[in-house]
Amino acid sequence: MKNFFFLLCTLCVLSVVAKAQVANYEVVPLPKTVSQPAGAGFLLSESAVVVYPEENADMERNARFLSDYVNEMTRMRLGTQPMPAKAKAAKVGKGNILLALDGKIQNEEGYTLTVNAKGVVITGKTPAGVFLGIQTLRKSLPVMQEKGQGVTLPAVSIADEPRFPYRGMHLDCARHFFSLDFVKEYIDLLALHGMNRLHWHISDDQGWRIEIKKYPRLTEIGAWRSGTTISRNSDVDDRVRHGGFYTQEECREIVKYAADRYITIIPEIDMPGHMLAALAAYPELGCTGGPYEVSHLWGIFPDVLCPGKEVTFQFVEDVLAELITVFPSDIIHIGGDECPRDRWAECPLCQQRIKDEGLVPQEGQTKEDLLQGYFTRRVEKFLHVHGKTLLGWDELLSCGVDQTSTIMSWRGAEPGAKAAKLGHDVIMTPYNAMYFDYYQTGDILYEPFSIGGNVQVKDVYAFEPVAAELTEEEAKHILGVQANLWTEYITYPQHAEYMVLPRMAALAEVQWLQPDKKDYDAFLVRLKRLKTIYDLHHWTVAQHVFR
Ligand code: ACM
Ligand code: ZN
Repeated sequence: MKNFFFLLCTLCVLSVVAKAQVANYEVVPLPKTVSQPAGAGFLLSESAVVVYPEENADMERNARFLSDYVNEMTRMRLGTQPMPAKAKAAKVGKGNILLALDGKIQNEEGYTLTVNAKGVVITGKTPAGVFLGIQTLRKSLPVMQEKGQGVTLPAVSIADEPRFPYRGMHLDCARHFFSLDFVKEYIDLLALHGMNRLHWHISDDQGWRIEIKKYPRLTEIGAWRSGTTISRNSDVDDRVRHGGFYTQEECREIVKYAADRYITIIPEIDMPGHMLAALAAYPELGCTGGPYEVSHLWGIFPDVLCPGKEVTFQFVEDVLAELITVFPSDIIHIGGDECPRDRWAECPLCQQRIKDEGLVPQEGQTKEDLLQGYFTRRVEKFLHVHGKTLLGWDELLSCGVDQTSTIMSWRGAEPGAKAAKLGHDVIMTPYNAMYFDYYQTGDILYEPFSIGGNVQVKDVYAFEPVAAELTEEEAKHILGVQANLWTEYITYPQHAEYMVLPRMAALAEVQWLQPDKKDYDAFLVRLKRLKTIYDLHHWTVAQHVFR
């Protein structure tokens, strides 16, 4: 009789195990090493709890994130529980998911993920590393309609670390305003893809998007345009008022939302060009004194800040002083791209400044080029005094900024290599691989209208950020990679999702994998599984690589 019950129970357990769905560690980005020992795995059921070190708020939040992700994927709801400092990890972790810290892990964001019959352990050097391990576990789970019999996690030993410390996405909220909710969703996308920087473009010719208390007209006037050109700078205007801005409180909310996910927001106030919205609000900052209008058109405009006037520097410093109280990032983006010299060449104050500063161009330079250098170096100094460093587009290379400034290489990859040789830190974001506002297929007839170009998923995947010509020392200056989403022609969230998904997944593998581990065909298989998460969230995904 005893034997009969034993047999029955064994059959019960086996049938439970048989019905459980199975996790798959082939996720995007693929972890550095994944070894699957022969031993038994772990049946994850609702009896497991997520255990974290007590009195560690970051780890507690990590535990709650994991519980939420497991719930999202499998419908199971795991509890969370602090682990007393004196408790034995092996005992507390048994049957559970244990989150732990280990200073012996080398990389700041490195982590290990171990599964065996006793349970699951995610260990990071830092809570950020643990969070990245949590993302890997999350992505390895199947999407389930009902919790059923739980999930079998095959035994595994994963050790992972990102290739680059800077793993970014950019979002232009100036050309079109996007709600706070969408910005949060975008941050969720970054977290899912293991990224850690959001470059937030919040000022441009077509709109100023952040409250600056000392200059209220920036948002009363500069945040609004009375219409937008139809199609690509046609002479027809839609005459629809467009705009919006984020209060400083809202920006702080975004900063915290991102920081909870170990993502730093880098704000960009683009200067001295791309400033029409600010000039419309404060015309005295321009060479001619205006009047100016928040632009209805796209492109590059001759009216820019006047570096001949002290009031311009007062404005820039006041704006940056408020900005750095909102954004704790130690690096601030000040744009610097596409600044025409037309007005400066004719402005007596600008010409006087050139004379006073003794700016003498060398071959291939104009004295107005050096004037942008003068402007930028003053801004750079101001940031240094406030404990910040400067980040700007690669035009700054011709401005004589010092080596502490980081260069964003967008006009191809060459400026990035050149900057690294000059000793600058560099973020690679070349238009021909990293501009996600470009078309993502050659067959554009059925695509939403776009700025042009062509950057397909395979082009993103193939991009190698470190130029072969760089020495080992120079290569260390390549801090990472970022893709940009300019929004001239992207007006609503689902369209933005369509442009970044799934190209972001390809970018994630560029940011995480060593070049010899990249394999496009294998990536496409992993991507299909990642898409189940995109679909779970009802994100709008471009289908070209799934057809
Ligand atoms: C840029 O695309 N103008 C940086
Ligand atoms: Zn001027």
